Amino acid sequence: MMSFPWEIENYLETHNNRLHIDGLSAVDLGAEHGTPLFVFSERRIRRNIDRIRRAEKLIECRLKLCYAAKAMSTMGILRAVKNAYCDIEVNSGGELWKALEVGFRGDQIIFNGTSKEIWEIEGAVDAEIYAIQVDSPLELALIEETAKRLGKRANISLRLVPEIESATHHGLQTALLTSKFGMMPDEALRSFQQYKDSPHINLAGIHLHIGSQNPSAAAYAEAFEILFVNLHEIYNETGIKLSHINLGGGFPVNYLAGEENEQLFAKDRIEMFAADFDPADAIQNAWLTVKRAVENANASQLLDDITLLLEPGRSIIADAGILLTSVRNTKQRPIARSGNPDHRPQTTDHWLLTDAGFNLTLSMVTYHWYYHLISASRAGEDHNFLYKLAGPLCDGGDVYFDVEGLARLPDHRGLPEDIKLGEVLAMFNCGAYTMAQASQYNGRFLPAIVLINVDGKPELIRRRDRFEDLITNDIY
Ligand SMILES: Cc1ncc(COP(=O)(O)O)c(C=O)c1O
Repeated sequence: MMSFPWEIENYLETHNNRLHIDGLSAVDLGAEHGTPLFVFSERRIRRNIDRIRRAEKLIECRLKLCYAAKAMSTMGILRAVKNAYCDIEVNSGGELWKALEVGFRGDQIIFNGTSKEIWEIEGAVDAEIYAIQVDSPLELALIEETAKRLGKRANISLRLVPEIESATHHGLQTALLTSKFGMMPDEALRSFQQYKDSPHINLAGIHLHIGSQNPSAAAYAEAFEILFVNLHEIYNETGIKLSHINLGGGFPVNYLAGEENEQLFAKDRIEMFAADFDPADAIQNAWLTVKRAVENANASQLLDDITLLLEPGRSIIADAGILLTSVRNTKQRPIARSGNPDHRPQTTDHWLLTDAGFNLTLSMVTYHWYYHLISASRAGEDHNFLYKLAGPLCDGGDVYFDVEGLARLPDHRGLPEDIKLGEVLAMFNCGAYTMAQASQYNGRFLPAIVLINVDGKPELIRRRDRFEDLITNDIY
């Protein structure tokens, strides 16, 4: 039996030439629910959470894992995350509401965001969440005022922006002074001094997030050291012993699925897309680095009883989601040479027009993100015939290659020869930052979502939009 780099034992497999997800035929799921269709695996979500949670055994403090809901927050997915005993990180009053609605307790929730409104702060204070992660001194003042008005004490953590460069996409860098996030360490220190005696503010922690799809395991050690230096200074200057530190998310997912072909991708793109390290190992290494620093500083008491928070999104949900899309049109054109030299030149461009475009995978155009794609009905065949691929939108940028010709994506995709109308294609690693950013652009229905539960049963967790959903809030 042939085996392909994208295959994952007991999860993504080829049977009878067809792609199977958790033992179910992708083609049958597509036929039953229609495409485009997102299929998620609850077992994979659990496996991904457990993989990160292994860190707890490797370090000497409590670990609190908070799933970054922004990556994908359909209620069925939030329920699956909760049932895996994982806590949650939210980014708006809307996500906070969803988290509470699905049954997370306040102490399981942390709340990030650069532009929180008063009603959002009220919601967080009222729910007595584990930490509001504060983005500026001004926001801290608003939180104190709100907590005072509500007669409560808000748990807060200050987000630092410590200048850690990560070799990820610019839009995913979040720990640079040039980024819009967080406060400078000296601003944070002044805030700790100012609010340490406030009856309405519980100064609980500090936070940073290196950036998403971060290819460097060593960056976590650097980040943890920075947090420790700040923890130490805050203690020395204010006497406050923080109860938690938060290292953010950012663990990478290998998007290339074996396509590490330097003719298709520039080297730095390969490094980012194929980044692969074990989060637990990275955290263990970071812990050991900090432990040495702590011992040198004679400050072990600062880590006694501390809780380490992580807020991973992508590494929990990306590879648990597959997007099934059908070919709705084909055409042939004389070959265009806009970007990469292809490794298997053909004289004609064979175009496939699918029913999923950047309405469902926005990052394909914004970040030139790569999602590996195969034929679900002929998964076991050679994928050597080259096609140009495009989505359904009336927008020239809705293509699977780099329309600007800057070779940030391959010009062509390899699939079996003679792809037919209606053939179902499967895009891997589509669980994160896809449906969460999807739109009804061009009057296209948001798709159905199936979650294959831990017992291997497919559950519809979102029905496909109907006509009325396109105008739900319109007044006319
Ligand atoms: C503050 C914060 N935490 C967590 C995350 C989740 O990152 P990822 O999905 O890469 O794990 C993000 C996303 O960029 C973020 O901005």
